[in-house]
Order: sequence, then C-alpha cells, then structure tokens
Amino acid sequence: MTSPAPFFRPRRVRQSAAMRGLVRETRVSAQQLIAPVFVREGIDSPVPITSMPGQFQFDIDSLRRYAAECAEAGIGGIDLFGVPEMRDPTGSQAWAEDGILNRGITAIAEEVGDALVICADTCLDEFTDHGHCGVLDEQGRVDNDPTLDLYVKMALSQAESGAHMVSPSGMMDGQVRAIREALDDNGHADVAILAYSAKYASAFYGPFREAVDSTLKGDRRTYQQDPANKREGVREVLLDIEEGADIVMVKPALAYLDVLAEVASLSSVPVAAYQVSGEYAMVEAAAANGWINRDAIIDESITAIVRAGADMVLTYWALEVAKRFRK
Ligand code: PBG
Repeated sequence: MTSPAPFFRPRRVRQSAAMRGLVRETRVSAQQLIAPVFVREGIDSPVPITSMPGQFQFDIDSLRRYAAECAEAGIGGIDLFGVPEMRDPTGSQAWAEDGILNRGITAIAEEVGDALVICADTCLDEFTDHGHCGVLDEQGRVDNDPTLDLYVKMALSQAESGAHMVSPSGMMDGQVRAIREALDDNGHADVAILAYSAKYASAFYGPFREAVDSTLKGDRRTYQQDPANKREGVREVLLDIEEGADIVMVKPALAYLDVLAEVASLSSVPVAAYQVSGEYAMVEAAAANGWINRDAIIDESITAIVRAGADMVLTYWALEVAKRFRK
C-alpha cells in the first residue's frame, strides 16, 4: 500500500517577508547594473532627453558628477555614448583623440578610476552623417569589411582614452575578432570586449534615436537581426565567443527573454542584457499617467531579466535602483 499523497502547501514559504527573503531564487544587486550614459559636445549643462524622461545628454562636467554618483551608489559600470557636433560619411570623430566620446571616457577615468567598469560604445552611428553603423558602398549599402577597420581605430582610441571595456554594437561580421586582434597587438590585451552579439532590429530603440540626435533614415535590417529569429541569435553569440568576446549581450531585454535564457544556458562567458530606451520610455510614460506602480515595475522587470539568465543588466534606471537598494 502506498501512503496517501501529502497535502502540499507551497504557500508555507510565502507567509512573511522574512520567509520570502530566505527562499528567493533571484537577487539583483547594484554591482551587476550598468548605466548607459550620453555625453554631448558643445553644451555646458545637461540637456533633458524628452523621449526618455529623467535621462540627459551630459556635458563633460556633469558627466563627471554623474559618474561619481554611480560609483558612490555601487553600480558595476557605465556604458558611454557620444553625441558629436560634426558628422561625416566615415564618422571620423569616433576615433579623434579629442572627439567627445574619447574626452568623456578620459573624464570618467580621472573621476572614478577603477571604481566603475568604464565601457564605451564602439559603433559609428552617432558619428556618421547618414546615421548608419558602418560606412556605405557606392550603392549605399553598409559595407562590412571597410567598417571593421574603422571599428578598430575607434576601439584603440577608446582603450587609449582609458576605457576598461569596448562594446562593438554595430553587428558587423567579424567585429569582435578584428577588435580583439588590434587591442592585443597594440598593448591593450587587458581591455575587455562586451559584444552586442544578439542585437535585434527593434522598434524598442525608438527613443534612443533622440538621445543621440540620430540622423538615420530607413532601418538597420541588413545588419541587426530579424526579431523572429532565436537560433540565429544563438549562432551570433557562439561566433562572438569564438572571436574572443569576454561578455556577450542580448538586446533588447524584456521582449527577448527566451533568447536570453537560451544564450545563458549555452554561453561559456558571462551574459549581459540591455533594457533599452523603449522599455524605459513605456514604463515612464505609463507611470506619468498614473497607470502603473512605477518602482514595482522597474524592479520586477530587472528581476525578470536576471531570472532569465543575465549576469548583468544595462539599464537607464541603474543609478536610481542602486540608490533604492541602499535604503
Ligand atoms: C547603435 C545603438 C543603438 C542602441 C544602442 N546602440 C540604436 C540602434 O541600434 O538603432 C539602442 C539603445 C536603446 O534603445 O536604449 N549603436
């Protein structure tokens, strides 16, 4: 005779905050958050980004203060994007020593040293007059291999400016290998690569285009991935690991948790996820209308991203959330 099945009571471990705290499977800490930050040339005080309420384009001085606050709050790092005054077909301000992004990197490095991982966006779209992530051929198509040479120049100038990590986000084939080889050959073997590996051609990037004053017409569907494809995302991740990525990323985050979970189960290197501008803006807009509990949604969405397998999360709420953890 088998004994009768016990009456299971999963609610027992939910009865108090203390009990729930003991059994919690996913914990988010400030250390695993990275703040994407914008530095803009030609301004002398922060400019609000209207499509991303609460976010700013910083001048160098306010960037320093923001970085110091991030370090104080104990977040893991900053990912810096530059908004230049001058744009041209090749995006030459991207690797100019006195280009705004490189000056921003140096300013943060002076301000916080190693207290934050200083990561720089390694992509041309903010610097080209056509707004694409690479150079164009005669037919106006984004030309992969000549673009790699420019990414290499950009990554080297970022390493020389003090970046601990570069992050190729342009989805050109071979970008991780090209950058890894160049860093190693030029005395920057210790500079890490955060690879935007599975980056989808997503409408969730909409608000970001204002943040960087994007000039893009058309779309990025010949280099960023089709949102319908998961296997292809896994392939991109595996290729980037082979090419030498130290960390691989899935982007956007919330609408791609299935891709993230699969990548996390297969990856031999740490996995990042980017909670992008559209994810941010939707929550801020609904909250401004009083339709949602803003803070609870922020915490729940970041927890979900970590639960799905992200070791770290790039989020515009990084500083705010880290401060809340401290209370
Ligand atoms: C391009 C880049 C984009 C974002 C980060 N890097 C925009 C794009 O691919 O069109 C989007 C980030 C966001 O939406 O928060 N280098």
